Amino acid sequence: MKHEQVLPPGNVLRYTLNERITHWVAAGSYIYLLLTGLAFWSPWLFWLAMILGGGQISRLLHPWAGLIFFLSVAYMYKLWASQMGMTPNDKAWMDSVGHYIRNEDSQMPPAGRYNTGQKFLFWGFFWCAIALLLTGVVLWVPNWIPWSLRSLRYIAVILHPIAALLTIALFLIHIYMGVFAERGAFSAMIRGYVPAAFIRRFHPGWYEEIVGNSPSPRK
Ligand code: HEM
Repeated sequence: MKHEQVLPPGNVLRYTLNERITHWVAAGSYIYLLLTGLAFWSPWLFWLAMILGGGQISRLLHPWAGLIFFLSVAYMYKLWASQMGMTPNDKAWMDSVGHYIRNEDSQMPPAGRYNTGQKFLFWGFFWCAIALLLTGVVLWVPNWIPWSLRSLRYIAVILHPIAALLTIALFLIHIYMGVFAERGAFSAMIRGYVPAAFIRRFHPGWYEEIVGNSPSPRK
């Protein structure tokens, strides 16, 4: 039987339990990967591995956490990819991004369930996760790579940290936007629902779709 979440009046379901669990598995595994990855990257940061159980444990668990991260991102793709396609509205949104930066929301084309920045973030994480998986597997089991393809190892050594650095940039922007800039977004990812006013302010196109055409906010 499908579980229906009961929402307080005037609230809208933004993330189902399934979406929230997937997101937090991705977030938890990513933070572990970030900390252990930074420890392997620079001797100055090796203390991070020491507080996470030591170098050997970190080296053992990092690739497995990478698999969990990749699987959660792949599942996110299944959940969200169909809503993350770029539309003409996103092109107009990009053209007006200056207004967005200056907080002139009323001058922006109405964002749907995800605004253009969120879509870029999604695809950025998606492609980086693929790059990290492919290069990570080469680094994990280098002996499986035939000697004739040994240049793959050098490519992996260079591309793995580049992809990781790109995710760090995305991650910092994501934390800033999700936790500090869009008040209410964080609790959406915890409780699943947000006041209809949040949707009207940040995702007016979606608000029109789900609330505008019905007498009361979706329960
Ligand atoms: C502690 C770490 C993280 C925090 C606090 C966090 C926070 C959030 C919040 C608050 C939202 C809802 C935004 C909204 O509805 O407006 C969100 C959505 C999302 N998160 Fe995260 N997140 C974290 C890590 C990650 C990671 C590692 C990924 C990588 C896969 C990720 C991918 C996404 C995506 C694709 C969305 C939907 C689109 C978007 O809102 O940008 N998040 N996150």
